[in-house]
Amino acid sequence: MRLERNLGMDLVRCTEAAALRAARLMGRGDKNAADQAAVDAMRFALDAVPMDGVVVIGEGEKDEAPMLYIGEKVGSGDPPAVDVAVDPVEGTTLLAEGMPGAIAVVALAERGSLYHWSGIAYMDKLAVGPQARGAIDINAPVAENIRNVARALKKEVEDITVVVLDRPRHKDLIHQIRETGARIKLILHGDVSAGIMTAIEDPPADILMGIGGAPEAVITACAMKCVGGEIQCKLWPRNDDERALAVANGIDLERVYCTSDLVRGENVFFAATGITDGEFLRGVRYFSGGARTYSVVMRSASGTVRYIESRHDWTKLMRISGVDYVHAR
Ligand code: FBP
Repeated sequence: MRLERNLGMDLVRCTEAAALRAARLMGRGDKNAADQAAVDAMRFALDAVPMDGVVVIGEGEKDEAPMLYIGEKVGSGDPPAVDVAVDPVEGTTLLAEGMPGAIAVVALAERGSLYHWSGIAYMDKLAVGPQARGAIDINAPVAENIRNVARALKKEVEDITVVVLDRPRHKDLIHQIRETGARIKLILHGDVSAGIMTAIEDPPADILMGIGGAPEAVITACAMKCVGGEIQCKLWPRNDDERALAVANGIDLERVYCTSDLVRGENVFFAATGITDGEFLRGVRYFSGGARTYSVVMRSASGTVRYIESRHDWTKLMRISGVDYVHAR
């Protein structure tokens, strides 16, 4: 396994490309068009990454996604062999409605190391930054988790901010958090950013709690592995059919998936670029003849986190990339 090269530096070109294309469609009300634009640009850029990649978390199964489908080969084909998780637009509704918090994300790790099972689409999640690592237990009551995180962060419970997706399924969770006196940040979409937000410097939130997408849990785990945060999850079946599917596949619904179950590899790379402005990353800024993007690149082996501000020049970029960054369609 040769993973000496920081592939994150290559990946950020892919998230930048996706963000530059997708941000053109901000506020148009068309989720699919925005996602397609991001997928096209990211797919093109991924082929330049020196890796033998297989998409394990992507746009769907082969018959429903023409590109970046699960099982698709990406990269130059050279070693190292890696699993790739892509989310060209994390927060498609946010982007389509022109709301804050949409990002483009790619993560990768050694081949065979990223958890993926598409049978159950959701997971119950609990995530914290590095200072609170070891203080959480997804099987413990909400109040106990909040108290333990507050203790680990040397804060009062009232100082703690819990970020939760605003969904009817979280009514009881929100009630339990309020009972403790902790603050709540409700978000409409985008629990990858929300999870990572607990682990960055001067974090705008301390804990992510609640049910969101299972693929997003794996992508969040990649970032957590890089920054030393922690995520714990449990599969969350929506109905009896999903419960039966789990049983048929020998899956224990009580199993707790920790960071290192979701991403077993030790060489993890993560890159994200802001599409619309958010607390985690600024969105794309267009100017005459080009645009500026704001990204983050992380590598687990070194623990280095780089924030990258890039200036893109349309004339030069379009000459070498073959992607039309100027027009929305
Ligand atoms: P998309 O970008 O695929 O729309 O996902 C956005 C998102 O908010 C995720 O961040 C989150 O994990 C999931 O959707 C929650 O799903 P739901 O909207 O069905 O509650």
